[in-house]
Amino acid sequence: MRITAAIVREKAAPFVIDALELSEPRAGELLVKIVASGMCQTDLHARDGYFAGPYPMVYGHEGAGVVAAVGAGVKAVAPGDHVVVSFPWCGACPNCKRDMISHCMNSRQLKMRGTRADGSTLMRQDNGAPVYSAFFQQSSFATYAIANERHVVNVRKDAPLELLGPLACSGQTGAGAVLISIRPKPGDAIAVFGVGAVGLSALMAARIAGCDPIIAIDVHDRRLMLARELGATHTLNHSGRPDVVAEIRKITGCGVRFSVETSAQPSVLREAVDALMPAGTCVLLGSARSGTEVRLEMPFLQNGRIVRGVIQGESCPQRFIPELVEYILQGRMPIDRIVTFYDLADINRAARESTAGTTIKPVLRMPH
Ligand SMILES: NC(=O)c1ccc[n+]([C@@H]2O[C@H](COP(=O)([O-])OP(=O)(O)OC[C@H]3O[C@@H](n4cnc5c(N)ncnc54)[C@H](O)[C@@H]3O)[C@@H](O)[C@H]2O)c1
Ligand SMILES: [Zn+2]
Ligand SMILES: [Zn+2]
Repeated sequence: MRITAAIVREKAAPFVIDALELSEPRAGELLVKIVASGMCQTDLHARDGYFAGPYPMVYGHEGAGVVAAVGAGVKAVAPGDHVVVSFPWCGACPNCKRDMISHCMNSRQLKMRGTRADGSTLMRQDNGAPVYSAFFQQSSFATYAIANERHVVNVRKDAPLELLGPLACSGQTGAGAVLISIRPKPGDAIAVFGVGAVGLSALMAARIAGCDPIIAIDVHDRRLMLARELGATHTLNHSGRPDVVAEIRKITGCGVRFSVETSAQPSVLREAVDALMPAGTCVLLGSARSGTEVRLEMPFLQNGRIVRGVIQGESCPQRFIPELVEYILQGRMPIDRIVTFYDLADINRAARESTAGTTIKPVLRMPH
């Protein structure tokens, strides 16, 4: 079928809106009419060649839409259902077999290679040339996408579908890191380093969990103001402040029980660890480039402190995303406060404003 998509033809090139031909869903797959798709830093990192992926590619991995058709054997969803398309996992590796699907050992290929697991692509240009079109097994910067039944989440039809795409990655990454990975108790102190889409999702979850204090650290005052409205009890602007750790200790007395790192900078990760009380845990969410290293002090860690990386909030999306939808409907996770809508045609402006930090979470509306 004929679709419209945003294509990146070579490394770091702008998105180009063009018509493409999309194949039919195979057994176990479904066709989703994308209503809106969030844009995540990972789309832009991939566009810019961080993961050495091929071109031309259609990115997008926070798709939300309506099931338009299903392939043979699909049981979990039916045409007309509202769905969010989440991250891919293989189902066969040692981590998938232990229900640790966000740490799937084949996820890098399934996310970045732009093809199905068997190497096939789903979109074609008019001259017949293939387009890499299974980014995160969805390529949602398009009017329609094909997804595997295993990776889609059925959501309530009375929920605001246009807002739900970001739950597929940044939303569940931040919220899951708190509600699934570290599970704070009411009154636990937490510091969130970097309050973009991921950090603010962690912060909203920390408020749901009853953390206190909730300390937000960023370099943008506007983001910090929003963090306070969404639940931060204290905010610290990192620019021009040499000792954020001392300020956190001043607020808490002994340091925080939990810290969440989303800036992807080694010096900030070090601070997020140094801010911990004994037996505290730092969760690393920010995506640094391969080869990035950080120094940590051994005796400090020895006192029960834990540093751990987390992918996708260790969520099982079919369980966790409906839970997040409930929080949204109850007004406890107001993600509309962090979203800015753009038409697909304005995708390059969305990317620029996201990189500049003026937009927190761009969401692209598809032309239908
Ligand atoms: N672990 C995962 O599964 C996963 C999933 C999605 C995104 N990510 C990664 O998480 C990170 C955050 O994503 P995002 O969409 O929120 O991006 P973002 O760029 O909007 O957020 C990062 C924030 O860090 C802030 N920052 C920069 N320097 C800082 C400093 N010195 N001190 C404090 N804050 C500072 C920025 O101002 C920004 O607000 C990215 O690296 C992204 O690639 C990881
Ligand atoms: Zn993402
Ligand atoms: Zn796996």
